[in-house]
Amino acid sequence: MSLSGKRVVITGGGSGIGLATARAAAARGASVVLLGRTERRLKAAADEMGPAATYRAVDVTDAAAVDEAFAELGPLDHLVCAAAGAVAGPFTDLAERDVRDFFETKFWGQYRVARAALPQIAPGGSMLLFSGFLYRKAAVGLAPFAAVNGAIEGLVKVLALEAAPVRVNALSPGRIDTLGGGEPMEPAARREYVELAGREATLGRIGTADEAAHAAVFLLENAYTTGVTLDVDGGLR
Ligand SMILES: NC(=O)c1ccc[n+]([C@@H]2O[C@H](COP(=O)([O-])OP(=O)(O)OC[C@H]3O[C@@H](n4cnc5c(N)ncnc54)[C@H](OP(=O)(O)O)[C@@H]3O)[C@@H](O)[C@H]2O)c1
Repeated sequence: MSLSGKRVVITGGGSGIGLATARAAAARGASVVLLGRTERRLKAAADEMGPAATYRAVDVTDAAAVDEAFAELGPLDHLVCAAAGAVAGPFTDLAERDVRDFFETKFWGQYRVARAALPQIAPGGSMLLFSGFLYRKAAVGLAPFAAVNGAIEGLVKVLALEAAPVRVNALSPGRIDTLGGGEPMEPAARREYVELAGREATLGRIGTADEAAHAAVFLLENAYTTGVTLDVDGGLR
């Protein structure tokens, strides 16, 4: 099913995989609505895409703001939930507050955006949630990612049953060259991260946001795929 003429709403649409998905969808003739917290980032992204893109500042941790935004947005064809933060550290060192804050965006953010959007998704439409490679690949210091990604993948399986005929899928990226849920890394830290990604992935390199977006667009377009999590991880499992 082509994205031409479809309306795609994307949280985390101002950067990374969300932005790359917006560009890919717009290139296929969709109109895209970019959601995120930082207006200047959203505006810059939308301006670059031209008339196919609009934006709205909304924080997915704010339930009332999410409901208000979707009430104003009205009908849509596809929802992409790419907004997320990050938290890392040994299990016993991490403050519960920080882990809860992370879940507020990456789990509850996707949960509440999906709830607000679902009644407005047109027949033949879909929702795409994001998990991540750290559910299948255990890594020291990244327990919150393992837990949140598992929760999202579980949620997607049931949502696919309850939302049908609207399709619900998840994308599980491996290490992808984006902000990774925060601010740009220092150049030395980034070099180290890119090298680590190359060592760990079967394909020997970090992935690009465009490669993840390519899979995201597939999951939006393919009319007979629901309830799946697609790994786009260069073999990192
Ligand atoms: N990149 C990777 O290596 C990787 C690996 C595994 C999984 N993933 C997952 O893939 C998805 C996309 O990741 P990415 O790397 O593309 O992320 P990213 O570049 O860091 O972008 C995250 C986006 O989410 C927005 N955001 C953060 N908190 C928000 C909030 N409370 N409300 C609304 N928007 C919010 C940010 O914009 P503002 O700060 O302006 O709001 C930003 O545009 C995430 O679920 C991530 O966990 C990524």
